[in-house]
Amino acid sequence: MPDKTFYITTPIYYVNGAPHLGHAYTSIAADTVARWKRLDGMDVLFATGTDEHGQKVEKAALDAGLTPLAFADQVSGQFRALGPVMNLSNDVFIRTTEPRHAAACQAIWRRLRDRGEIFLGHYEGWYAVRDEAFYGDDELTAGPDGTKLAPTGAPVEWMREPSYFFKLSAWGERLLAYYDAVPDRILPATRRNEVVSFVRSGLKDLAVSRTGVSWGVPVPDDPAHVMYVWLDALINYATVCGFPDENDPMWRFWPADIHLVGKDIIRFHAVIWPAVLMAAGLEPPKRIVAHGWWTARGEKMSKSVANAIDGIALAQEFGVDALRFFVMREVPFGNDGDFSEAALVRRLNSELANDLGNLAQRTLSQIARNLGGRLPARGAATEEDRALLEAVDALAAKLRPLIDRMALGDALEEVWKVIRSANAYVDHQAPWALRKTDAVRMEAVLRVLADSLRVIATVLSPFIPDSMGKLLDQLGVQGGERGLADLAQELPAGTVLPAPEGIFPRYVVAAA
Ligand code: MSP
Repeated sequence: MPDKTFYITTPIYYVNGAPHLGHAYTSIAADTVARWKRLDGMDVLFATGTDEHGQKVEKAALDAGLTPLAFADQVSGQFRALGPVMNLSNDVFIRTTEPRHAAACQAIWRRLRDRGEIFLGHYEGWYAVRDEAFYGDDELTAGPDGTKLAPTGAPVEWMREPSYFFKLSAWGERLLAYYDAVPDRILPATRRNEVVSFVRSGLKDLAVSRTGVSWGVPVPDDPAHVMYVWLDALINYATVCGFPDENDPMWRFWPADIHLVGKDIIRFHAVIWPAVLMAAGLEPPKRIVAHGWWTARGEKMSKSVANAIDGIALAQEFGVDALRFFVMREVPFGNDGDFSEAALVRRLNSELANDLGNLAQRTLSQIARNLGGRLPARGAATEEDRALLEAVDALAAKLRPLIDRMALGDALEEVWKVIRSANAYVDHQAPWALRKTDAVRMEAVLRVLADSLRVIATVLSPFIPDSMGKLLDQLGVQGGERGLADLAQELPAGTVLPAPEGIFPRYVVAAA
């Protein structure tokens, strides 16, 4: 087993409604990084799952006429089913209703309590069920009919009840030191600045239990209270590593290398969660990365607003790799993006079908037609061969730091630069003409192209695994030999390649 571990998570999704493209986006991004790290020889844990407690889910279940658990079973199943459709390679799918999770929550609670980090008090203030979050008076705006709204637009209600508090107010300085301890602790920088100024402005103690709610993890030794759903949810990241059993083999992954989240929930992950962990004597996450929102005609997609775009239908219509590629390529990571099918079709046709698909097709069909499908040997390299191969060989090293910072769109741009150079190279070398004039040189050119495609397919395989798997099959690369380290090994000349098949059919928009 490789000795370097890598642990990446998605948020666990609320089960108050069906999954949409926004959820698929987070999961695809995490999946891409997880696959890359495996390709790079690491021992990877990629975890996702569902967040099933709290008032929001309880209300949704009631509306659906089901018990909370029956309702959670149903919707959690829909999130799990997203995995095979989006080709997610998660190692774990955690549900917060699992008994092992309640055990982890209670173990953290006891640690916090025993260390004097939790005290019993009284909560009085504004609570938004939709966000499952508390807000200060100064954060609210006026809604219709004299109602009050949270900054997210969610309605708030006044709450007064006994509550346990976590002494978050004591953690400001230590949080600031934690952010400073490593560069890029929180990405992108705009989010980091937002979090730092929030912490600098002073933290309040956090209510971490509720008495009016029954759908949750009971507080140890005081069953009138259930744990605040956000504390419960965050602890999932420890549950999947076997907590509280630090001898569990999964504990080797702790702490997370990357918690990937939407920008809407950065504070929970970058403020509350590291403070809770430090207070419990556990190592906080290495990095927290927030991405932007996908909007649908300018509005945030949301289950509560019912304007959600169905990622599953898109994958079925355009192919899962076209969808994965589009969402990673279209917007720089961290920014918001407005979804449009027309833009997806443009990317699919121009970049996948034209740039990459044609490069593969031209190379493989000429090897099939002119060389009986046998992979040619390397020839004496010309300056142009060397220029292309150098760019190709430098790709993995170029991508590594970009992927570490989740600059996945930039990583794709680096690959496309090479694909464009390779296409220019084919046009210029014109191997179809060499066939008659210089067959030896034709073989050398086709070999340069096959070697380039092999590297391109390898580094793209975390992004678009299905199609790149097919391309590697067609290039004669063996199943167990597709890691980054395997690229050092030349493919044997003379290998008989399977008959070439197109990998990205152009999408033709039906006439209206
Ligand atoms: N249950 C909490 C998270 C707990 S993590 C310990 C939650 N769930 S959620 O289902 O509402 O949203 C989770 C995540 O889904 C968001 O942070 C984001 O990653 C993703 N997205 C939901 N809607 C989205 C968009 N419209 N666009 C992009 N991502 C979105 O919050």
